[in-house]
Amino acid sequence: MTANRAIKQGLFNDAAATENFNKALQTPCMRMKAVVTGGAGFIGSHMAELLLEKGYEVVAIDDMSNGQQANVDMFKDNPNYTFHKIDLSKDFDDSMFKDAAYVFHFAALADIVPSVEQPLKYHNANVTATIKVLEACRRQNIKKLVYTASSTCYGIPDSYPTPETAEIKPQYPYALTKYLAELYVMFWHRLYKLPVISLRYFNVYGTRARTNDNYGAVFKVFLSQKLHGLPLTIVGDGTQTRDFTYVKDAVEAALTAAESDVVGEIINIGTGNPQSVNYLAKLIGGKTISIPKRPGEPDSTHADITKARKLLKWAPKTTFEEGVRIMLEDIDYWKTSPAWDKESIAKATEKWFKYLADKKVL
Ligand SMILES: NC(=O)c1ccc[n+]([C@@H]2O[C@H](COP(=O)([O-])OP(=O)(O)OC[C@H]3O[C@@H](n4cnc5c(N)ncnc54)[C@H](O)[C@@H]3O)[C@@H](O)[C@H]2O)c1
Repeated sequence: MTANRAIKQGLFNDAAATENFNKALQTPCMRMKAVVTGGAGFIGSHMAELLLEKGYEVVAIDDMSNGQQANVDMFKDNPNYTFHKIDLSKDFDDSMFKDAAYVFHFAALADIVPSVEQPLKYHNANVTATIKVLEACRRQNIKKLVYTASSTCYGIPDSYPTPETAEIKPQYPYALTKYLAELYVMFWHRLYKLPVISLRYFNVYGTRARTNDNYGAVFKVFLSQKLHGLPLTIVGDGTQTRDFTYVKDAVEAALTAAESDVVGEIINIGTGNPQSVNYLAKLIGGKTISIPKRPGEPDSTHADITKARKLLKWAPKTTFEEGVRIMLEDIDYWKTSPAWDKESIAKATEKWFKYLADKKVL
């Protein structure tokens, strides 16, 4: 509608109102702002991508301890994307949180194995930084915080599929710190009425997954081994299963959770359809060898996603076969990952076996 037509229709009766209306017509639509911590990481970069597609203004934050510059550069021509290099475990200027509708808190140290040797570093990145983010959200009056918790809090579960009410039994510092931060998130909700939701992710995989030097996630290890012509190292007999969740489904769950009316809930995000490591090796293809089973790790992770389906009306869309196919198409991405063999894995997991072997479930 033009200003003149509006005047004719009696919507304005003074010049100032007409001028304001004209200005408003020239201003691009107001975009909702979303903050993505850990935005240069694997899941965070997919979150930023989805939010930009949906018309949000995205403020990404990362300290680049594990972030990839390419995950920032991919958005450099997008005027709705800004990036801030900040260590969230230290004091920081939180003005970029102002007027944010949603904050997606993905920043964390996410490799499991090194956490056994670096509990304090993990506490700072995963717990202290979360408290700082909670305080920034509280000060800047954001609309909702989505926290990415981890299914590792269930440790070795007593029941499958595992519901959110299962006993909490973290087995190593990564799991403990992710759970402690979740306690803080829920506490800020109860005490300060901060609108929050916590999503417990199960084994997220997909393009842009971490390629760093830490031994860990099975995809990173297998894809690099395949590229380097090495046998895939199967832990134990490979019949163990994991609830592999494709990253696009994971970030869609986060956006659905943010935009929903649901607050103060903890919700599992997985597929409810776990797959064996042997099947993954078969889909990837190539020779395999067996390496010792690791103590402290469950034979299965299997999400009960009844709550996600009911409260968020969310369900995963990507089949495991499709997800693996997409990753294989992109296999060159893992060229820089170390080529793990039996010996280097034994060395990287030495401390893990030292501390976790022969222990009863914690
Ligand atoms: N990948 C999974 O299977 C999985 C499963 C459950 C939960 N999660 C959680 O999802 C989140 C994202 O995981 P990811 O796999 O994308 O890991 P990632 O390592 O790729 O991303 C995490 C990002 O956080 C950044 N970061 C770490 N410490 C920081 C700090 N102090 N300040 C600012 N940024 C910091 C890192 O540089 C990195 O870019 C993590 O919180 C992780 O615990 C992941």
